Amino acid sequence: MELTPRLAAVAGFIPQGVRVADIGTDHAMLPVNLVETGKSPFVIAADVNEKPYLAACRQVQAAGAGSRVEVRKGSGLEVIRPGEVDVVVMAGMGGNAIINIIDQCRGVLDDVIRLVLQPMTDAGSLRLWLARNGWRLVDEELVKEGEKFYVIMAAEPGIENQQDHFLLEMGPLLVEKYSPLLVEYLEKIKMDSQKMLSGLTRSRSEESMDKAVEITNRLTRLKELINRCRQGAEKYSG
Ligand SMILES: C[S@@+](CC[C@H](N)C(=O)[O-])C[C@H]1O[C@@H](n2cnc3c(N)ncnc32)[C@H](O)[C@@H]1O
Repeated sequence: MELTPRLAAVAGFIPQGVRVADIGTDHAMLPVNLVETGKSPFVIAADVNEKPYLAACRQVQAAGAGSRVEVRKGSGLEVIRPGEVDVVVMAGMGGNAIINIIDQCRGVLDDVIRLVLQPMTDAGSLRLWLARNGWRLVDEELVKEGEKFYVIMAAEPGIENQQDHFLLEMGPLLVEKYSPLLVEYLEKIKMDSQKMLSGLTRSRSEESMDKAVEITNRLTRLKELINRCRQGAEKYSG
């Protein structure tokens, strides 16, 4: 089972030989790939919706992977029991949906050694939430498919050392690793922030003005970070 660059990057963050749960699996491409390549001995492929659940069942059956991939139907982490898996993957869902899923079933994650997450939106909020809730970022990668950027992150239980909110929002390990796509990615965030700011400046409400000040400050740091990255600074210390 060939993976797209995005899913290949997700697979790249899964250590060899671990049991995995792929929550929101849809087509179960990742689970089938993980067992076919011998990376994982056992994967739970779970989805809350009927259509993706059935698509996953068909994919697993067609690949003859039924003894190593178990397809389950249900929401979030409620489909797994504590100790059943070592790594939990959530890819292709919104960052806030990922936060809600983790928050609702924390006990299930007591024995989990790593989360591999690929939020479609709100990557910054997800990093901040992880840092405040006993998870530390251990790796991040940026992938571009067509015109779209995808952030993939790995987090493990522990204390996040990065205290700088701005860097946590942008992706401290993307900055540290000096990802080749980083400048382009930050430019996109800058453009989105500028659009948001021009929308806010048309409003006179106090709330909008506060938000506009927040975004202006963020833009100042963002421009500084982009300049440093352009100059080839390998490490940005805030
Ligand atoms: C866009 S697909 C992503 C599929 C795959 N993980 C990927 O990255 O290519 C998102 C999937 O998450 C599922 N989903 C959404 N909320 C969920 C939840 N609370 N629990 C389990 N699955 C969920 C949807 O049904 C959908 O199949």
